[in-house]
Amino acid sequence: MAEIRFPQLKTDLPGPKARQIIQLDDQMISPSYTRAYPLVASRGYGAMVEDVDGNVFLDFAAGIAVVATGHCHPRVVQAIQKQAAELIHMSGTDFYYTHMVEFAQKLASVTPGAGPKRVFYTNSGTEAVEAAIKLARHATRRDKLVAFLGCFHGRTMGSLSLTASKSVQRKGFGPLLPGVIHLPYPYCYRCPYNLEPKSCGIECARVLEREIFKKLADPEDIAAVFIEPIQGEGGYVPAPVEFLQELQRLCRKHGILLVVDEVQSGMGRTGRWWACEHAGIEPDILCVAKGIASGMPLGAIVARAELMRWPPGAHASTFGGNPVCLAAALATFALLEGGLIENARRVGEHIFARLADWPQRHRIVGDVRGRGLMVGIELVRDQKTKEPAQDLRDEIVDRAFRKGLLLLGAGESSLRLCPPLVVDTEQADFALDTIETCISELERNL
Ligand SMILES: Cc1ncc(COP(=O)(O)O)c(C=O)c1O
Repeated sequence: MAEIRFPQLKTDLPGPKARQIIQLDDQMISPSYTRAYPLVASRGYGAMVEDVDGNVFLDFAAGIAVVATGHCHPRVVQAIQKQAAELIHMSGTDFYYTHMVEFAQKLASVTPGAGPKRVFYTNSGTEAVEAAIKLARHATRRDKLVAFLGCFHGRTMGSLSLTASKSVQRKGFGPLLPGVIHLPYPYCYRCPYNLEPKSCGIECARVLEREIFKKLADPEDIAAVFIEPIQGEGGYVPAPVEFLQELQRLCRKHGILLVVDEVQSGMGRTGRWWACEHAGIEPDILCVAKGIASGMPLGAIVARAELMRWPPGAHASTFGGNPVCLAAALATFALLEGGLIENARRVGEHIFARLADWPQRHRIVGDVRGRGLMVGIELVRDQKTKEPAQDLRDEIVDRAFRKGLLLLGAGESSLRLCPPLVVDTEQADFALDTIETCISELERNL
């Protein structure tokens, strides 16, 4: 099966077996999950996923930007199997094992900033953000936090207090952490200040010093600023380089920690190890998860060593940094280093070259943006008014599925393309052709 590189559909969708599972799922599983279309996966290889009825799909969602090395990469599978036969669990909270230090050294070696670093392991992205909140408060003895509208940092109570992506994610769960200040994100296509990128004077960063520090919170009370260098859930919106640099300057000036959440953008997806590298900034704390172990549950924060001085017992996690997950992470790291980051950069360039004229050629495409294999396409009803076209976006996602392409939405009306980093240019062309066909079909009926 591994040689199949393009979709093969055998049944109506969903097929008979898929329909059965979905019916049971409807009865048994939490309705809080957001399934866009009826895919019931049974196995995966490379950038392909097969469903329970034998239909094969090209996966441009990668389990929400997780399977960085593709589905079930043989070297990742082998590392997991070997480790599972040797040591499944020990708890790094109370004992030592080799993989913990080995992967920490690898992570630290590619994290921006020359000084010594330390790593704390978690099982997920939200736990990495929780750890960053706790460390930032502990290290600064300050309590307030700054975050940005549209950003997604997770769903546990601390990280949810920073998340400001969709109100349904917060509704009914309050009160959340006090002392969190949200600012508009530098979403240049829809500038919150109605300015133009060339002449805006980086208003979205300057507002911090000019308004917030003067009127809302003394900078000496602010522990950290949390930012996604490219908004993921919020619509695949990259923050401009100058904005990130100015944010870093302001943080340093006032002793505020800069926490960069690379849970979605991290580990090679943007064509470099981290998205923040494109801006040349050096976060005080870096949050990672999703793609770092190719699908095994692992997250981490990497912090400047002088910040991570909390005493034994201050923070820990029974499962965080599990040996099997770390074995998968080490195999993932080797594959990324061995060519997949370069592949992400190369295939990403190919994709963006093809997308460049879509806003001219398609009246419902408002904006294309991103880096590497983190690609956002924003759908609008009208290019002048920029009215978001969520229904058209959802229809494209559904039609693409029925043509064998797995996509996800992001933000109010954007498509997110986040294929595994093993994807090649021919598969990228197939995906873009499919999306373009869906767009043209919709445009004909408008
Ligand atoms: C940027 C970012 N931070 C944090 C999270 C939370 O990660 P998890 O779902 O593993 O808790 C996500 C998940 O989508 C994310 O995209």
